[in-house]
Amino acid sequence: MPTNPILVVHGGAWAIPDDMVEAHLNGVRNAAAAGWRVLERGGSALDAVEEAVVVMEDDETFDAGRGSFLNRDGKVQLDAFIMDGATLRGGGVGCVERLRNPVRAARKILSDSTHVYFVAEGAERFAAEQGIELCRNEDLIIPREVERLREYQAQAETHASHLFAPEISHDTVGAVALDREGNIAASTSTGGTLNKDPGRLGDSSLIGCGCYADNQSAAASTTGWGEPIMKLVLAKWAADRVAAGNLPAWVAKESMNYLKKRLNGHGGIILLDANGRFGIAHNTPRMAWALHTAEKLEAGTERTN
Ligand code: GLY
Repeated sequence: MPTNPILVVHGGAWAIPDDMVEAHLNGVRNAAAAGWRVLERGGSALDAVEEAVVVMEDDETFDAGRGSFLNRDGKVQLDAFIMDGATLRGGGVGCVERLRNPVRAARKILSDSTHVYFVAEGAERFAAEQGIELCRNEDLIIPREVERLREYQAQAETHASHLFAPEISHDTVGAVALDREGNIAASTSTGGTLNKDPGRLGDSSLIGCGCYADNQSAAASTTGWGEPIMKLVLAKWAADRVAAGNLPAWVAKESMNYLKKRLNGHGGIILLDANGRFGIAHNTPRMAWALHTAEKLEAGTERTN
């Protein structure tokens, strides 16, 4: 029997300032609309999350694709992951510097490779062999981020302890979707953290940490400070609790409590099961999110389920 499709996206969890709220809301609405176009014509959850994430990678508001944070060397290094809940196939890229849309390369890995991960030059070579155009790293860098890094490095001593505070931007993006066939999928994409060491990989592209999908449990995408999230394997932690019979809305909130209590971490999560039950939660002052069903497109920057 056909299922009612649903799509949830997030565009980062942190203290989004008032003057940036509109840009975040527009960004997540546009992403949800793009993913929804796929679902409403009968497309797969996998295609829907890919299209939704591409829109946010292309939007300079977010820490994904062009406009991402710069690493210590002043370069953009991107991570992304995509996972199919029907087959458990996944594709991930890490530390790529010449891909405008890392999620496109991740999808190619999922679909056309026997492997799950490619990193750095190997990922770029794989993408190019699959027909994905490479760009220059400079094409991903915008003046706002050059200035942000310059300011941070100039005041490194005073800022060091605050770099991973909820006030600092964590604009990682992600999407989870359920299609008409009853399959779920998830994807997450990020530029990582400001001034990160070259080669640092965050939670976003790590299976079960920043992203996970299994029709038998749930699809999850996280955002926030990556190191605590990966130590707790948080996306899988949440999916397992849905599989144990808990409602995604409750599990989403619990996962944020767990992140805070266990490691003083902060961030947000979107969670969706194959019955269309979802959860949206964050332990930061704000998180940009949008939800698309046949009835409505809703978006916000705060959510307590
Ligand atoms: N959550 C994104 C990162 O820490 O890389």
